Amino acid sequence: MKIPITKPFIGDEEIRAVSEVIKSGWITQGPKIKEFEDLMGNYLKSNCVAVNSCTTALDLALKNIDLKPGDEVIVPSLSFIASANCILYNNAIPRFVESDPRTFNIDADEIEPLINEKTKAIVPVHQVGLPADLDRIYSLAKKHNLHVVEDAACALGSQYKGKLIGSFGEISCFSLHPRKVITTGEGGLIVTKDNKIADRMRCLRSHGATLSDLDRHKSTEVVFEEYEELGYNYRITDMQAAMGIEQFKKLEYILKKRKELAEIYNEELGKIDGIYIQSIPSYATPNHQTYAVRIKKNSAELRNRIMNKMLEKGIATRRMQAVHLEKYYIRRFGKISLPKTEEANHTMIILPFYPSMSDDEQRYVIQNLKEIVRDAQN
Ligand SMILES: Cc1ncc(COP(=O)(O)O)c(C=O)c1O
Repeated sequence: MKIPITKPFIGDEEIRAVSEVIKSGWITQGPKIKEFEDLMGNYLKSNCVAVNSCTTALDLALKNIDLKPGDEVIVPSLSFIASANCILYNNAIPRFVESDPRTFNIDADEIEPLINEKTKAIVPVHQVGLPADLDRIYSLAKKHNLHVVEDAACALGSQYKGKLIGSFGEISCFSLHPRKVITTGEGGLIVTKDNKIADRMRCLRSHGATLSDLDRHKSTEVVFEEYEELGYNYRITDMQAAMGIEQFKKLEYILKKRKELAEIYNEELGKIDGIYIQSIPSYATPNHQTYAVRIKKNSAELRNRIMNKMLEKGIATRRMQAVHLEKYYIRRFGKISLPKTEEANHTMIILPFYPSMSDDEQRYVIQNLKEIVRDAQN
């Protein structure tokens, strides 16, 4: 059997919707973006601005707080590198905070000691779709007058204390990459309740133009756009938005399937001696964007051996990144010690997980992991 890490859940509906956009002749940012943004905005009870990735969403969200060179932004190291890169794009310094190896999420206890007069923002990551402890993070932000930009790349459909991530809070950024719960190929969303911020984000995603192509097209008189500040081309296409609209219709089903599959993994993998399953705090209802476990022994060598054995059986697995250990960050900021993050980085294994995963496929992963972990420990 060959089992990939993920499979996007795409059907004829998406193919038809994208074809219709191509046939319409309006393929770049246009009416479908507006429809997609309205749909997502209605779901999240906020303004939604679609851009071409979560990386560019985070970049613009941070641009909105006008960071100055030398300003500091607190971010967990245990994340995909984009969470920290966006801080560097804005000439600020990422201050890496520990994550809790049990939840894989930012450790709220570790934030306050990093705050100083240069700190301007916190970028909590809802890692693998598990909401971070937002009440504690927002209360620290309030106490120290900091912005919060939520890296919700993985967290569409996840809830914190019964509220959807993105439906409250300052500004949240989602990814629509194929490893996320719904996809547009590449894509991202900036989500905010603040109408002024949303307008500015719309402007910045398209070179700072005060009017979009759609505004100009719909106008009954000739209108010209103006450029009041430096903007970017972070636009997404109408082909992608059409796909996003169809994907969104499947979101509830996808979340239900992911929950069912996660429960089976939890039940079966929780019994394996030598493995921890992710611990879910009572405030969180995750979307199960990714399924990851941790081996109990703090040994990257053992973890790698297990991953290689899984690959020999045709099962793809992935590691979890710790950004402060990447060469570029060591070159730039020197060696930093984050023991809890390093333990998670050395012991985590991301397993195959997707809504169309069959019982046979899931059983095959479970059985092999059981045997491989048992043999590897002996
Ligand atoms: C936590 C996190 N932040 C940011 C990103 C970047 O998302 P994108 O690929 O849409 O730029 C990812 C992508 O996997 C991610 O996992």
